[in-house]
Amino acid sequence: MSGAASTAHVPVLLHESIDLLQPERGGLFVDCTLGAGGHSRALLNRLPDDAQLICLDRDDRAHRQAHQTGLADEPRVRLVKAAFGDLPEILGSDCGRVTGLLADLGPSSMQLDEAGRGFSFQRDEPLSMVMDSDQEADAAHWLNLVSESELADVLFHLGEERQARRVAAALVRARPLERTGELAEVICQSLGQWPRPGKKHPATQCFMAIRMAVNDELGQLDRLMENLGLILAPGG
Ligand SMILES: C[S@@+](CC[C@H](N)C(=O)[O-])C[C@H]1O[C@@H](n2cnc3c(N)ncnc32)[C@H](O)[C@@H]1O
Repeated sequence: MSGAASTAHVPVLLHESIDLLQPERGGLFVDCTLGAGGHSRALLNRLPDDAQLICLDRDDRAHRQAHQTGLADEPRVRLVKAAFGDLPEILGSDCGRVTGLLADLGPSSMQLDEAGRGFSFQRDEPLSMVMDSDQEADAAHWLNLVSESELADVLFHLGEERQARRVAAALVRARPLERTGELAEVICQSLGQWPRPGKKHPATQCFMAIRMAVNDELGQLDRLMENLGLILAPGG
């Protein structure tokens, strides 16, 4: 999964993942995580003319990008703004007909790099971190309501932050938290570590954990995995 800092977008394991899907078989494919469309475009380039590709993303930004790049105009492509945890409902009668499915987890480079999304400690801005712009409960909301013990568990289990209890206590004391800058500052202070050129930012693991909790990333993945048997065609 991606961290909280990013450079120009490079789709992860592009050729390897498309090769594994064997697009030349044709049929119905699903890209669960459209993002900037790199995987979808590469898949489309190898799909037969009568194949179909459903591209999901819960972020409007990914859909705007697909319109800007022309991916949305491809006759074989259907864009759906939805979460992949709901894939059986989205597929309806196509459930059980999917030949190949791809999920490239974590935030997109657009989410990390764009001002105003609140995913990154690189800019001081409102603490949003939501992938789906329709989601009302953002990171500030979550951080200001979560119990100290749940916060510590999230930082430890999702962020592998060894000082999770200390950071959670400091964050609870610092409430209300409203901005990425404040969040990064409190984390650094509680760890007694400060950003240094060429080194990983001390708040990286905690930012990742909070983002994963706010977007229920593991819950979504669990639902997708549980439903795979329903979604995929035999041999898919
Ligand atoms: C790492 S990016 C995908 C990058 C993409 N493969 C590409 O080539 O540009 C992940 C994308 O998945 C989306 N996403 C994450 N969790 C999702 C979910 N549960 N349902 C739908 N989209 C999701 C994010 O909004 C983000 O745009």
